Order: sequence, then C-alpha cells, then structure tokens
Amino acid sequence: MILALETSCDDTCAAVVDGPRILSNVVSSQASFHEQYGGVVPEVASRHHLQLVNAVTDAALSQAGAELSQVDAVAVTQGPGLIGALLVGMSTAKALASAVRKPLIPADHLHGHVAANFLEPDPIDPPFLCLVASGGHTLLAGVSDHSSFETLGQTLDDAAGEAFDKGARLLGLGYPGGPAIQRAAQEGDPAAFGFPVAMSRDPGLDFSFSGLKTALVYRVRELGEERTAASVPDLAASYQRAIVDQLVVKLERALDRGGWGVVALGGGVAANVELRERAGQLCEAREIGLKLVPLELCTDNAAMIAAAAAHTEPIPYPDYLTFDASAQAANLAV
Ligand code: KG4
Ligand code: ZN
Repeated sequence: MILALETSCDDTCAAVVDGPRILSNVVSSQASFHEQYGGVVPEVASRHHLQLVNAVTDAALSQAGAELSQVDAVAVTQGPGLIGALLVGMSTAKALASAVRKPLIPADHLHGHVAANFLEPDPIDPPFLCLVASGGHTLLAGVSDHSSFETLGQTLDDAAGEAFDKGARLLGLGYPGGPAIQRAAQEGDPAAFGFPVAMSRDPGLDFSFSGLKTALVYRVRELGEERTAASVPDLAASYQRAIVDQLVVKLERALDRGGWGVVALGGGVAANVELRERAGQLCEAREIGLKLVPLELCTDNAAMIAAAAAHTEPIPYPDYLTFDASAQAANLAV
C-alpha cells in the first residue's frame, strides 16, 4: 500500500493505492484562485499547497481507512513542474516517510500520466503507445515496460493544454481553458474558421502549438471585439478541432511506424471529448485497442503517482533526507 502526494502544479493531491486498486484519491483544485490571473501563478500555487497538503493527506488516509504507519512507502512527484510547488510535496513526503521510518519513492510526473493506465478500472499492461497531453507537456510515449517510457516525439513549443488555456484566455472563457473551450465549442461549427494544423506535413512525431495560438490572436484582431464575442462558439470549435487534428495526425503517424496494438491517452487534455472520440475512430479503423482512463485519472492526481512509484526503486530511510525536487523532466532531457 502506497501513500502518494502530487503537488507539481495547481492541484494538491494525495492518494492511497494498493496495486491497481485505488483506496482513495483526493484532489483539492486551486483553479478558482488562479482564474482571476488567467493561469497558474507559481508563488500562489506554492502557498496554497502549504495550506492544503496536510488536510488533503489526512483525508486520503482516512478515506482509505489507513494509518500512516500501515503504508509500505510514501511516493511523491519529484518533477517536472513548478519548483516551489514540488518542494512542498517533497518536503511533506520526506517528513511523513521519516516519521514512520518508511522508504520514499520519487516519481516522474509524466510517468505518472502513463501509469494511470495501470490502475483500476480496466488496468492494462505494456506494451502500448501513450499520447500524454497536459498543460505542461505533450508527447508520444512508447511504453514497453511498467517502469519507464521512450519519448517518440514531443512538443517543440507550447503544450496542447497550454494552447487550450491561452485560447480560452483570448476568448474570455476563463481558466482552465480546456473544459471552457470544450463547453463553448458544443454550440459552434468546427469548420467556421480555418486554423493551421501545424506539423501535419512534418514527417516526424513532434508537435507545435504556438503558431495556432498566434493564428487565433490575428483572427480575434481581424474580427474586432463585437464580432469575436458573437463568434466565440465557432472560434472555440474551430480552434479545438485544430488542436485535436494535430494530436490525431501524430498518433496516426506513430501507429504507421508500426508495432502498437493498444493506444492509451493521458494528461488533462485526454479528458477532451472530441479527442476521445477521434482516438476511438482511429483505433476502430485500425482494429487496435483503445484505453481511456476515467476523467479524474486524466487530470493531475496522486493515484497515478502511486502507480508510477509501484514500479520505481524505493529509497530507504534515511537516505532520502537530502533528496530534492526537480523542475525538469528526466525523460525529456535529451
Ligand atoms: O494533466 P493536467 O491536469 O496538468 C498538467 O500536468 O499540466 O492538465 C491540465 C491541462 C490544462 O491545460 C487544461 O486546460 C487541460 O489539461 N484540460 C483539457 C480538458 N480538461 C483539462 N483540455 C481539453 N479538454 C478538456 N476537457
Ligand atoms: Zn499533469
């Protein structure tokens, strides 16, 4: 049984997980605090984590009916993420683990998004191809074993979730942008505006979303305030279509290279209904499996960190006391 903490961005998360079984998975979102700024303010996030982390941890243990002394190890996101936010989780996890002389397991956040697929309901085992698309990262992960993944392609600039967030801010739809754009897009026509699907002619597996955001800036400027306000649903639907098109084109290209019998989606953008549907159509056409985790396992949570930690080497007490968090992704440091 693993107690895991996740504080890499603006959600304060704790979970208790036993193998593939989630005994509790508590998420305290700070989104409403950051909404007024149109995005996450790192210093504000760190302060909120400090205020919330103990209560969230207590809630996770009590919902699981477990005492701290009963857990086998304490897992924590080591990185990548906002360094101040990560340090709150790391310091708390070190304190909790050392209080009961248990091992600490540092986990990679992106490995966590991949490892969400190892959890109930319907856990899967490697090999599979995983598209991880979140607010901070967008990458195609070749997953051949439980303990790691290979980065087959990644974004060269903005992440897909960042594109949703920036687009939503431009359209006055609030934060987080993904759910807001998805909502607005329901009433809109995805063919109303032509947005560039970047990298679609590029033969590689990398992504790029910054040009799309710039295209939206120009379109909003051309339309002017009134026409933009009247066209929000069409703009949102067309913009969402361009993001999803690029993700699906690259997924398709990775499948063309062969060898994958199952596709999985991870990260906050994997909660997007259009992406889930389009990935479904793609996998059906190719007669391969599609694994979609429940929405609460797409966005940041600590159960996925426990799932990654279950396949990561624990550090015995007290060797981890000098251990640090890291803002950079170990897997992406190519
Ligand atoms: O994985 P996550 O919770 O945090 C990071 O690791 O970044 O992802 C958050 C991102 C945000 O950019 C948010 O706008 C996006 O996921 N997101 C969505 C949806 N729900 C969350 N994007 C598109 N459609 C959604 N339904
Ligand atoms: Zn994440």
